[in-house]
Amino acid sequence: MTTLLLDALHCKNTQRPPVWLMRQAGRYLPAYRELRKKYSFLELCKTPELAVHVTELPLNIIHPDAAILFADILLIFSLFGMEPLFDDAKGPFLIQPIANSSEIEKLSALAPQEVLHYVQKAITLFKSRNTIPLLGFCGAPFTLATYLIEGKTSINCEKVKKWIYRDPKSIHLLLDKLTHATIDYLNMQIDAGVDAIQIFDSWAMVLPQSLLYEFSLSYIQKICLGLKKDIPIILFARGTSLFCREFAALNPHALAVDWSGNMATIRKAVGSKIALQGNIDPYLLHADANTIQKATRSLLDAMGKDPGFICNLGHGLLPDTPVENVQLFVETVRSYGL
Ligand code: CP3
Repeated sequence: MTTLLLDALHCKNTQRPPVWLMRQAGRYLPAYRELRKKYSFLELCKTPELAVHVTELPLNIIHPDAAILFADILLIFSLFGMEPLFDDAKGPFLIQPIANSSEIEKLSALAPQEVLHYVQKAITLFKSRNTIPLLGFCGAPFTLATYLIEGKTSINCEKVKKWIYRDPKSIHLLLDKLTHATIDYLNMQIDAGVDAIQIFDSWAMVLPQSLLYEFSLSYIQKICLGLKKDIPIILFARGTSLFCREFAALNPHALAVDWSGNMATIRKAVGSKIALQGNIDPYLLHADANTIQKATRSLLDAMGKDPGFICNLGHGLLPDTPVENVQLFVETVRSYGL
């Protein structure tokens, strides 16, 4: 197995930084868009052979140093009998989002092996024919709760925030149930063979600092403590630039930094024991070649010799990004220092 990513996750990399991209297996790839004409997003996720094929798609096109399993953070809702749907125009949605506390009390999760066996099979299949490190992933309980209550992507998460102030107890019950299901789901992924795990807390930044630990970080901490194996955990959140100390206090192997902050400043703030991943603005990949190379090299000049640096974007690749710009970004990192 190539060791760059795992070395960097342990802050022991002595070569060029590893590079991969969030959403590297997705719509910016013409081959993916072709597949989507034949299969729905859920069909791709639920058919291990297809999910593995999509996971592998970017490997020979952009040459990253890690693969991330093709799946979605919202699939875990099927453990509770709440199947997420994906609309091409509107994005993910639930037919019946959670509306009151008695619905939370009634929620009960099936074992992931019973429902999400296709994820287990996809991991085993990917590992049987690849040597590149494979990242498993999940959504953080708070981010999952926003989808369960809002029923879709919501910029301000108004329903959740009002509910937190009105009836914190039932939100805690929901977060607790999501935490236990997530621990089982991640342990299934670990047993199947993933090499590291990324936890996505995409909506943590709607919480004020005073509520961040209580409603988000404390549950992430429980997840980290509940995993079977000491497997590297990368913690991504929008808000890591602002709250890097709070996120670093959970002691993940790596913090995935959003695109707003300065990496070198964040390194000083969190110390040298945690790997840092990120944090190019995904929109940079819409610029001309010169601008892409200059901005990437500037990040590399600041962080390239850091033994715990993993080059990535500060959020997912945008679906309309030109493939050649993604290739240029990865190649700029791969040739760094040569
Ligand atoms: O390449 C990869 O990163 C691996 C697969 C992956 C997907 N979703 C596939 C996907 C991963 C790691 C995710 C995580 C995810 N899913 C997050 C956390 C990261 C983030 O973006 O903040 C969230 C919030 C979701 C929920 C979700 N799924 C949304 C909001 C959407 C629609 C909008 C969007 O960004 O595409 C999805 C659909 C989705 N998940 C697609 C893909 C490839 C597009 C599906 C399609 O139309 O083909």
